[in-house]
This record gives sequence, C-alpha cells and structure tokens, in this order.
Amino acid sequence: MEGYKTFLVFLVSTLLLGFLGVIFTLVWVLHWREGLGWDGGAAEFNWHPVLVTSGFIFIQGIAIIVYRLPWTWKCSKLLMKFIHSGLHLTALVFTIVALVAVFDFHNAKNIPNMYSLHSWIGLTVVILYALQLVLGVSVYLLPFAPNTLRAVLMPIHVYSGLLIFTTVIATALMGITEKLIFSLKEPPYSKMPPEAIFVNTFGLLILVFGGLVVWMVTTPAWKRPREQDIKTLSPTVFSPERTEEGSTVTEKSDVELNSEAARKRILKLDEAGQRSTM
Ligand code: HEM
Ligand code: HEM
Repeated sequence: MEGYKTFLVFLVSTLLLGFLGVIFTLVWVLHWREGLGWDGGAAEFNWHPVLVTSGFIFIQGIAIIVYRLPWTWKCSKLLMKFIHSGLHLTALVFTIVALVAVFDFHNAKNIPNMYSLHSWIGLTVVILYALQLVLGVSVYLLPFAPNTLRAVLMPIHVYSGLLIFTTVIATALMGITEKLIFSLKEPPYSKMPPEAIFVNTFGLLILVFGGLVVWMVTTPAWKRPREQDIKTLSPTVFSPERTEEGSTVTEKSDVELNSEAARKRILKLDEAGQRSTM
C-alpha cells in the first residue's frame, strides 16, 4: 500500500481522538453535570451527548473507514459489507436512544420540542442516515440490484455518506454550544470557566476526528482495490512491511513489481469512477 506509514499515523490519530472524544463527554456529564440516569431529569438528557458522540460520531467514523484498512483487503467484500452495515446500524441504534432521551427530557420538563436549528438539522440528518442505511442494504447487500445500478449509485452513496457524517459533526458542535450557553450561569460561558474550556476542547477533538476520517476516505491511494483485482494481486501487496519505503526488502520480485503495476492500474480505474461495487 502506498504511504502505509502515513496511513497508520492517520489511523492511530483518528482512533485516539475519537476515543478521547467519548471519554471527554463521559467526564463532562459525570464530573461537571448531573451524571447519567433515566428519570426525566438532567441525568436523562445527558445520555444525549454521550450516545451521539459514541454512536453517531465515533462508530459512524469507524464504519466509514473500515474498507480502507489494508489488512482487511484479503477478507471477502461481502464480509466487509456486513461489518460496514453492522457498524452503521449500531450507530443508528445509539442515535435513536439519544433522541428518545432528549425528547423524553423535554416532555417531562415541558420544554418545547424542535424549536432550534440544532434540532432541525439533527432530526433531518438522523432521517437521512436511516434512509442511507436502507438504500445501502437494498442496493449493495441484497443480491437483487444489477451491477450497473450499483456502479451508478456508488458516487452518490459516498457523497451522501460524507455529507451526512460532516453534518453530524456540525450538529454536535451546535448542540455543545447551546448546552454550554444554557447551563453555565455562575460564572457564565463568557467568563470561560474550566468546564467551558474542557467542553470547547471536546468540540475541537470531534472536529479534528471528523477531518481525519474525511481525509482518509478521500485519499485515492488508500482505497480498497476492486474484488477481481484483489484476486490477481500477490499477497505481498497486503504485507505492508514489504511495500513501505525504506523496508528491509531492497530487491523487489517480479511478482511484487507486477502487483504494484496492478495496484496503479486499479487506482486509474477507480479514478475513472469504476469503484468496486461488488
Ligand atoms: C436537542 C439532535 C448532538 C445538545 C436535540 C434535538 C434533536 C437533537 C433532534 C431536539 C429534541 C427536542 O426538540 O425535544 C442531535 C443530533 C446530534 C446532537 C442528531 C448529533 C450530533 C448534541 C450534542 C449536544 C446536544 C453533542 C451537546 C450537549 C442538545 C441540547 C438540546 C438538544 C442542549 C435541547 C435544545 C434544543 O432542542 O436545541 N438534539 N443532537 N446535541 N441537543 Fe442535540
Ligand atoms: C462505501 C457511507 C451504509 C455499502 C462507503 C463510503 C462511505 C459510506 C463514506 C466510502 C468508503 C471508502 O471510500 O472507503 C455509508 C453510510 C452508510 C452506509 C453513512 C449508512 C448510513 C452502507 C450499507 C451498505 C454499504 C448498508 C451495504 C452493504 C458500501 C459499499 C461501499 C461503501 C459497497 C464501497 C466500498 C469500496 O469502495 O470498496 N459507504 N455507507 N454502505 N458502502 Fe456505505
């Protein structure tokens, strides 16, 4: 894989930031807020940021980059589709529970529903995400759609997936800001108390996490090769220590050179829009 070391740096940083983001929400609600509970009160609201961060942001981010992990390229495409869909489904379940928590809290406290821009965009993006999941399963997982339809829809699938993911990050940033303005009174948000600095940092973490996921998924050299090309590639392509620069292997075998040529050919095909859809 081209740029394997850079890929690893991106992957480790992404996982670290995502994981830190989840820890930050937990510390926020457990240390600075009312903790977690299901009683119609503030502790129930707190499930909202915790579940959207772990599900809608972290798990969705992993689901999006899962095809890019080079050590999964030898696994069947069908298995990877199940992993991709399963992670997205898990993210959706987390998000639905997060919405139930905030609506339940609002109803228990007689707070109006759906008045803010955050809630408008938030609910819309959850509905679009569910639609994307249903369409993804119908077109790419079930065996009915013809290959031409799969190929035509793939750029739309990737574009709408990334649009949804980036909108989720933006929605979370709006929600964080709203919550800080609502709940920090003495001292107010404008005085930058420690909670404000901590939660602003949390916002930055998820923003950078989102940026890294989008970078990884839009880097052509890290794209999963097409299924039929994988079969023609030598196993050496999947052995990163043999393909990265500066490796101990100085003499490249014919098979290896052919593999690299094949990989470049795949990239050219992919650039021409012929992404693997099987
Ligand atoms: C409310 C969605 C993230 C804070 C809401 C509501 C929705 C929603 C649909 C409306 C509930 C109602 O009207 O009863 C989302 C989605 C998110 C997200 C899809 C995914 C990123 C966050 C985060 C926070 C947050 C990270 C940070 C604490 C709030 C607050 C409310 C709220 C304070 C109540 C005020 C309002 O309705 O705007 N959210 N939210 N949200 N959310 Fe989020
Ligand atoms: C690829 C998003 C659900 C099948 C992608 C990519 C994104 C994405 C961003 C580009 C990945 C890459 O270039 O490496 C989403 C979102 C979903 C979703 C947000 C759910 C809401 C599904 C489902 C299936 C599916 C249910 C059914 C199997 C695929 C396939 C690819 C793909 C076949 C192409 C992978 C490749 O290039 O080798 N998806 N997806 N997706 N997705 Fe989804």
